[in-house]
Amino acid sequence: MSDAPWTATVLTIFPEMFPGPLGFSLAGKALARGLWRLEAVDIRDFATDRHRTVDDAPFGGGAGMVMRPDVVARAVDAVKARGAPGPSIYLSPRGERLHQGIVRELAAGPGVVLLCGRFEGVDERVLEARAFREISIGDFVLSGGELAAMVLIDACVRLLPGVVGDAASLAEESFAQGLLEYPHYTRPAVWEGRKVPDVLLSGHHERIREWRRQKALEITRARRPDLLTTVSATASCADRTRSERREPSSAAAEKTRAEECP
Ligand SMILES: C[S@@+](CC[C@H](N)C(=O)[O-])C[C@H]1O[C@@H](n2cnc3c(N)ncnc32)[C@H](O)[C@@H]1O
Repeated sequence: MSDAPWTATVLTIFPEMFPGPLGFSLAGKALARGLWRLEAVDIRDFATDRHRTVDDAPFGGGAGMVMRPDVVARAVDAVKARGAPGPSIYLSPRGERLHQGIVRELAAGPGVVLLCGRFEGVDERVLEARAFREISIGDFVLSGGELAAMVLIDACVRLLPGVVGDAASLAEESFAQGLLEYPHYTRPAVWEGRKVPDVLLSGHHERIREWRRQKALEITRARRPDLLTTVSATASCADRTRSERREPSSAAAEKTRAEECP
């Protein structure tokens, strides 16, 4: 097994954009400590004309320009030949939508090679020929793949061993167990007349754990019910029954529970 740190190799026509935000806070400190590596490679270095051209007009006509397959292929082949680890990924609005499961998978590997598109995108043939996996960061269109690459890298880096000081915070945060996170509170205990929930001041760890689990379920059910299909339905219904026994719920909530938890 290699001792090399997790490595992000980014193919871009704007290498000066990196590390950018990745040079700050958790990711930046981890980069400085050598817990991960970043190499931003200028795709223009693989152009062959004196203007360092990477794009051309689309066959079939239409607006915009397309990144050339030969130039992109030379760039990805060169970084692979010198050992850039991990799958080749093209950040693309038409890719599979990024989620924490993909982030966990990529963070567990040796690294990623990320292709950042510009213009109208990249010639299809190089995506096929070099077996690029396509990943989208959401259903909207950015002007380039660099910000998407940063999002993906940041999400992976915080899962690498030693990057987040208290690993317990990773185990409890949103998506870690298929749920959104419970609400947080800090001092002052009363602010603008709003009190922190009593249970959090009780010092009773088991009750606090249970309250947080219930809040995570409630918030997930209200905001992202689709996520609950990945959490055991039996467990969630049992939790709801238990909590509603303690805190009688509204008639509407009872009705929903009865429909969802027969
Ligand atoms: C202007 S966009 C191209 C959009 C493309 N013509 C389309 O309609 O799907 C330029 C580049 O930004 C990146 N990009 C844009 N939106 C993205 C998203 N939601 N997720 C990941 N990358 C994105 C891709 O690398 C893309 O090649």
